[in-house]
Amino acid sequence: MTIREMQDRILQLKKEKDFCILAHSYIKREIIETADIVGDSFKLSQDVCSAKQKNILFCGVHFMAETAKMLNMDKHVYLANGLAGCPMAEQMEPEMLLYMKKQEPDRKVVAYINTTAALKRHCDVCVTSSSAVEIVRKMEADKILFIPDCNLGNYVRESVPEKDIKLVQGGCPIHASVTVEEAEAAKSAHPEALLLVHPECVPKVVEKADYVGSTSGIISYAKKSNAKQFIIGTEYEIAETLQYECPDKEFFILSKKLLCPNMKLTTLVDVLNTLEHPENGFEITMTEEEAAEARFCIDEMLRLG
Ligand code: 13P
Ligand code: SF4
Repeated sequence: MTIREMQDRILQLKKEKDFCILAHSYIKREIIETADIVGDSFKLSQDVCSAKQKNILFCGVHFMAETAKMLNMDKHVYLANGLAGCPMAEQMEPEMLLYMKKQEPDRKVVAYINTTAALKRHCDVCVTSSSAVEIVRKMEADKILFIPDCNLGNYVRESVPEKDIKLVQGGCPIHASVTVEEAEAAKSAHPEALLLVHPECVPKVVEKADYVGSTSGIISYAKKSNAKQFIIGTEYEIAETLQYECPDKEFFILSKKLLCPNMKLTTLVDVLNTLEHPENGFEITMTEEEAAEARFCIDEMLRLG
């Protein structure tokens, strides 16, 4: 089967079997072309609730499919590749958080959406990279514990200096691997280019940026800007997508390390196989009680964001 034939079969099966396909923007392009909803973490968790289909096939990483499930307990939710996890989401155990909450009971816990459902059950509000600053600013609480990404947390702390924000040591191994030397080298190689950086990068890299924002923030900034050249400081796929969609502009990747192996695990064959045989697919399950407890902080995010 060619890629095109596989895509056609996927489009046919998703109609026949009443599936909505969601794909994070870091997923491979040939899969994105078959998806109904494409976006960053915030858009996906917002739009999944409006899907009319009975079944959801998530092309992304485990915590994203879990979030889709807790918001749609009446639907079957499958992760296209069950091995696709996010190391940052799995960095903190609930026991550790419970211990920290005991030490400082007056802090509200703000969780990056890249966390497991088990951890979300003990958090007050969730944020994504596109909503974190706005939500923390809007919260009534002044004392906050931000988990698990200390780089995004640091960016929020600098943007909302009036709040007392405590961080933990955690983060995205892909974005955090980019060094300030790489940022300087990219800027001298492309002196006309604007540097657009995701806040999961380390503060020294973020300081060098002309724009800091989430995946969708970076995409829309580059599309709207009058500049012609950009250095992209987030996952590789975004530079590719922008190059396809803006052929009159030039995009350079900040570092070749910006390739998330978990996002790249999902293949078109995984998507096809799950649609052909959902009974063999990786279905997300959780009890009503687990979902209700974990959903609280997502509902707070959607209310405040
Ligand atoms: P956003 O989708 O919020 O930009 O987050 C990036 C990311 O690393 C997702 O895993
Ligand atoms: Fe997790 Fe980073 Fe990959 Fe996003 S890019 S899924 S945060 S490891």
